[in-house]
Amino acid sequence: MGGRSFKLPHAFFTLLVLVHSMRLALGGFIPGVGDANNISCPEGERQALLEFKKGISDPYGWLSFWGSEEEKKNCCNWPGIRCSNQTGRVIQLQLGFDYLGGMISPSLLELPYLTYLDLSNNDFNHSYIPEFIGSLSNLEHLDLSSSNLSGPIPYQLGNLSRLQYLDLSSSNLSGPIPHQLGNLSRLQYLHLGDNNLTESENLEWLSHMSSIEYLYLSFTNLSVANDWLEVVSSLPNLKNLDMSACNLRLSSFSQFNHSKSFTSLESLQLRDNEINDIPKFSGDICTLCELGLSGNNLNGQLIEHINDLSGCAKDSLEVLELARNQLWGSLPDFALFPSLKGIYLSSNKLNGTMPKTIGNLHNLEHLDVSLNYLQDVISEAHFSNLSRLLSLDLSGNSLTLEFDFNWVPPFQLDKLYLRSCKLGPRFPNWIRTQRNVTILDISNAQISDTVPAEWFANLPPKLVSLNISSNQIHGQLPNVSTMSLSELRFDLSANRLEGPLPLFSTDVSSLNLSKNRFRGHFHLFVKSMMGIWVF
Ligand SMILES: *[C@@H]1O[C@H](CO)[C@@H](O)[C@H](O)[C@H]1NC(C)=O
Ligand SMILES: *[C@@H]1O[C@H](CO)[C@@H](O)[C@H](O)[C@H]1NC(C)=O
Ligand SMILES: *[C@@H]1O[C@H](CO)[C@@H](O)[C@H](O)[C@H]1NC(C)=O
Ligand SMILES: *[C@@H]1O[C@H](CO)[C@@H](O)[C@H](O)[C@H]1NC(C)=O
Ligand SMILES: *[C@@H]1O[C@H](CO)[C@@H](O)[C@H](O)[C@H]1NC(C)=O
Ligand SMILES: *[C@@H]1O[C@H](CO)[C@@H](O)[C@H](O)[C@H]1NC(C)=O
Ligand SMILES: *[C@@H]1O[C@H](CO)[C@@H](O)[C@H](O)[C@H]1NC(C)=O
Ligand SMILES: *[C@@H]1O[C@H](CO)[C@@H](O)[C@H](O)[C@H]1NC(C)=O
Ligand SMILES: *[C@@H]1O[C@H](CO)[C@@H](O)[C@H](O)[C@H]1NC(C)=O
Ligand SMILES: *[C@@H]1O[C@H](CO)[C@@H](O)[C@H](O)[C@H]1NC(C)=O
Ligand SMILES: *[C@@H]1O[C@H](CO)[C@@H](O)[C@H](O)[C@H]1NC(C)=O
Ligand SMILES: *[C@@H]1O[C@H](CO)[C@@H](O)[C@H](O)[C@H]1NC(C)=O
Repeated sequence: MGGRSFKLPHAFFTLLVLVHSMRLALGGFIPGVGDANNISCPEGERQALLEFKKGISDPYGWLSFWGSEEEKKNCCNWPGIRCSNQTGRVIQLQLGFDYLGGMISPSLLELPYLTYLDLSNNDFNHSYIPEFIGSLSNLEHLDLSSSNLSGPIPYQLGNLSRLQYLDLSSSNLSGPIPHQLGNLSRLQYLHLGDNNLTESENLEWLSHMSSIEYLYLSFTNLSVANDWLEVVSSLPNLKNLDMSACNLRLSSFSQFNHSKSFTSLESLQLRDNEINDIPKFSGDICTLCELGLSGNNLNGQLIEHINDLSGCAKDSLEVLELARNQLWGSLPDFALFPSLKGIYLSSNKLNGTMPKTIGNLHNLEHLDVSLNYLQDVISEAHFSNLSRLLSLDLSGNSLTLEFDFNWVPPFQLDKLYLRSCKLGPRFPNWIRTQRNVTILDISNAQISDTVPAEWFANLPPKLVSLNISSNQIHGQLPNVSTMSLSELRFDLSANRLEGPLPLFSTDVSSLNLSKNRFRGHFHLFVKSMMGIWVF
């Protein structure tokens, strides 16, 4: 198994700073309702919270407003606390994203009216989920996700009969899922994914959760749970199901009677399993918007598999992910699926053509057919109605792009990857129209033209990554200018650029100018760069 990770480092810190600034902006705390209604928390609950604080390590001092001083008396005003506006009892403890550590003290049991407990995105140092949490009997919302917890899920959580939301994802929990969770009949959201859990019997317990709408079990070893499909398909309110990387095999579908199944399902994610067919029943799910089967064992012609989706799902389907399989042949006539917004077919063995009908998918936002063996000449017609397209990846095929020199595409792309497509010999003029682009890769594209100087002097303002390497672009680079606020990554290597080195008006975090014909003194530019390769 692999792939689960703690998402702490960068994004986490940004959030931390955001939360912190938000608190400062609010005068140091997120107000509870206490002051507005002149209610004050009971002394016993304040003491319980102070006791809880004692167990917690709080390197950033988020809890410094929690204290025994007179002016801090009303715990309803403390950050992270919310009291009932009727009774003044503590009902909510929201300390997610606080970089707290230490241990979760049983003093929480002295907050009997607690309905909402969020300790997510902290670092509890591989400690276990305390069993006493199962006795916080009024809890409706429990979030301990991404908190570096380990060990088993305590079966006592099955006692939280009012629970509607349970998120224990992205920690290092292991062992079997306790079947007592099946008693949580009001649960609407259950996320146990991205741990190291197993199911040692079957999923019968799950069939009692008739309210469940969101069920995420990715990275749970379900290889022995042969009933998984029967069980999840009969959950009447299920909207999102994620059983990616759960060791599921095809054999589980073969005798499946789907006549009354999946009545509300919108998203079915079965990535990274061992499935070798698009499950036939998925074509008959009239609510299905997203189907994720990347990283399975689908083989044979893509067109034949697509026929399995021609039931009523063809009208609702928005995202089809079949990357990392062994599909071959041509792209089908996707016009059958008028709602498609995303097509992901990267890393298959597609060796046919790309029909022009793809240009009629006027809702299409993302098209990725990279790393296949497609052979075709792509023209304006392939994009005729794609005015919403945001990302396009045709890299790593045998595709030739031939457009009228003055073609103005109907789209404004965010990301464009055309590595190893044939674009040249002229620099593709239409790329100049893409003023919103952040990532642009036209490397190894048989371009042998002079540097598009006025384009370099006024690059798209949001550009963060530009790769034009391995072409035969020649001439002198002008000083490079963009309004970008981010640091740029440039790869201009393996061309025939010459003359003195250009100046860059922006911070460049990596610059590869190697295998060109520049002259000059490179050290002048190095100060703002993290990586530079000139030869
Ligand atoms: C708030 O309640 C206290 C007693 O609990 C009382 O002395 C005070 O006057 C109240 N303040 C307001 C604004 O109602
Ligand atoms: C008290 O809280 C409830 C639910 O949180 C809310 O519906 C109600 O409007 C609040 N009442 C007052 C007076 O703020
Ligand atoms: C989780 O806890 C373990 C054990 O203390 C520690 O080694 C590890 O660095 C922690 N992981 C994160 C992401 O904080
Ligand atoms: C993490 O746990 C280990 C042993 O389980 C302990 O030695 C260490 O002090 C703990 N670290 C923190 C920050 O609590
Ligand atoms: C769970 O609930 C049952 C009754 O509903 C009770 O007897 C038992 O003590 C509870 N267990 C815990 C750990 O709270
Ligand atoms: C998860 O916890 C186990 C011990 O329970 C430990 O051996 C393993 O290294 C941990 N894995 C991660 C990714 O922290
Ligand atoms: C659910 O709770 C009841 C009693 O409250 C108990 O008898 C039953 O075994 C529990 N079911 C599961 C699946 O834990
Ligand atoms: C997952 O748990 C198994 C035992 O249940 C253990 O052997 C394995 O190392 C764990 N994997 C990780 C990544 O913690
Ligand atoms: C999944 O569980 C089964 C049965 O418990 C076990 O044989 C298998 O090795 C597990 N697979 C992985 C990848 O851990
Ligand atoms: C599937 O189930 C429905 C009713 O639930 C039944 O009428 C039908 O005969 C079953 N089909 C098969 C092939 O078992
Ligand atoms: C595509 O690949 C399949 C399977 O390898 C092969 O049978 C077929 O002839 C290939 N088609 C083309 C046009 O190369
Ligand atoms: C560029 O993107 C922004 C959103 O990121 C959008 O509002 C704007 O319309 C786009 N510009 C063009 C020319 O499409």
